[in-house]
Amino acid sequence: MLNFEEDMTPVAASAGVRMASMGMGAAMNKNTNEHDYTIASVSTGRIRVEDKRIINSSADVNQLVPFKYKWAWEKYLAGCANHWMPQEVNMSADIALWKNPAGLTDDERRLVMRNLGFFSTADSLAANNIALGTYRHITNPECRQYLLRQAFEEAIHTHAYQYIVESLGLDEGEVFNMYHEVQSIRDKDEFLLPFIDVLTNPEFKTGTPENDQKLLRSLIVFACIMEGLFFYVGFVQILALGRQNKMTGAAEQYQYILRDESMHLNFGVDVINQIKLENPHLWTPAFREEIRGLIQKGVELEYRYAEDTMPRGVLGLNAGMFKEYLRFIANRRCQQIGVDVLYQGASNPFPWMAEMIDLKKEKNFFETRVTEYQTGGALSWD
Ligand SMILES: [Fe+2]
Ligand SMILES: [Fe+2]
Repeated sequence: MLNFEEDMTPVAASAGVRMASMGMGAAMNKNTNEHDYTIASVSTGRIRVEDKRIINSSADVNQLVPFKYKWAWEKYLAGCANHWMPQEVNMSADIALWKNPAGLTDDERRLVMRNLGFFSTADSLAANNIALGTYRHITNPECRQYLLRQAFEEAIHTHAYQYIVESLGLDEGEVFNMYHEVQSIRDKDEFLLPFIDVLTNPEFKTGTPENDQKLLRSLIVFACIMEGLFFYVGFVQILALGRQNKMTGAAEQYQYILRDESMHLNFGVDVINQIKLENPHLWTPAFREEIRGLIQKGVELEYRYAEDTMPRGVLGLNAGMFKEYLRFIANRRCQQIGVDVLYQGASNPFPWMAEMIDLKKEKNFFETRVTEYQTGGALSWD
């Protein structure tokens, strides 16, 4: 039976702030960020839920319960309930269409190739960012439980892109090297890399206001700009193909990926807002303005990617529609983390995307699955 303790109370939050303002961050840092969470290295006292914090916690990270952040545990359960594997999706219609010289236009093929060119390496970047960076700095076990699930989902996404590339017989070298060789893709990745490098640097430790802001900045860039903005031109493109009954296997996989990514984004936003609540001294006007500038830069880069992948307009879509869509999404990201919106009055030219995000797995999943994986009820030991 689940037993959720009370959510974070204002008292606990202000106690955390007091500790920071009393200069206890450094002492906590010594206890919590040496990455030696052996049984001997942590307090032997029973943990108190009020000692749990997203960053710089002094509570034992090896004890999952008592829960403090029920939203994190619920997202972990929801992520597991949404489990899927790429090879369950039938790609035969996509293969026939791709091999048929008249099946797709040159512009549609360019769109598919450049789309895979971005995504095929983006999810490896995401997985490495979580496993080698974020995970170490988040000192809460229920959040870490979700991050482990998220990291596996990123591996499944990379698997999905590889599966599409292999099914269609595409040039692997061309697709997987686009992040070096296609400028609009490279620009997006080069924007992201410094923020990932901060967290994966073995020398980096939280515990000072400056470093805690660095962590927060990187979390915002990862959730709101990478997962929350840089994926969306690509999602719309492939799902628009699927709506026209083209590349339906790929589109089905992108639907599952979009659903996973929506959860990643929502988890990231919850983590960001909880860190803000527990560390209000980090959320200065200058920092908020800097974040708005980064989101604006993200919109520009993603728009250039849209222009590059659709130089003439395709599928009834054109780059101008994406400009409006990106502004609409950017405003939403600003609202989610509590900064002023950037583009007053932007509206959504693709209202059908909302239905895609709310995909119910049961809708057609079991009709299309072609393989089965073992579940707890079907173990075989041979
Ligand atoms: Fe992903
Ligand atoms: Fe993700």
